[in-house]
Amino acid sequence: MQVRQFSCGIGYPPKPEENPVRFSFLYTKENDKQEVLAREGETLLEVAHNNKIELEGACEQSLACSTCHVILEEEIFENLESPKEEEEDLLDLAYGLTLTSRLGCQVKVTRAMEGMLVKLPSNTRNFYVDKNKLDLHK
Ligand code: FES
Repeated sequence: MQVRQFSCGIGYPPKPEENPVRFSFLYTKENDKQEVLAREGETLLEVAHNNKIELEGACEQSLACSTCHVILEEEIFENLESPKEEEEDLLDLAYGLTLTSRLGCQVKVTRAMEGMLVKLPSNTRNFYVDKNKLDLHK
C-alpha cells in the first residue's frame, strides 16, 4: 500500500541571505525542539513542510481537516486576526485543543514571530471533511 505524502510549501527553507524569520517547533510528545527558517507570508504549515517538520496537513490547506493543529504562544496568538468560523469549527474537532490553538495553514508568518515557539500537539485527529461528498447530501 502506498502512503500518501502531503506537501505544502515550495519544499525547502529560505537561504540565510533571504533574511528569514527564525523560530522553533516543539514536538511536545518527545520534547524535541527544532529551529526553522521561514519566509514572511508563508503559512506555518508551509514552513513546517519546507523544513521537514512532521505536521500533516491532510487537506492541503483547504480548511477541511484539523491535522495542521498548532499551539501558539499567548502573545503571538493575541496579535493574530481572529479565525474564520470554518477554522473555529474545525478546531473544535482537534485533538488537545487549547486556548491558543490555531490551524497552521491559516496562520501566516510575520517578522514579529521571530523567536517564537510553536507547539505540535502529541496527537492529531485524522479526519478529512470531503466537501464534495457533503454537498451531495444537501
Ligand atoms: Fe487541513 Fe489546515 S491542512 S485545515
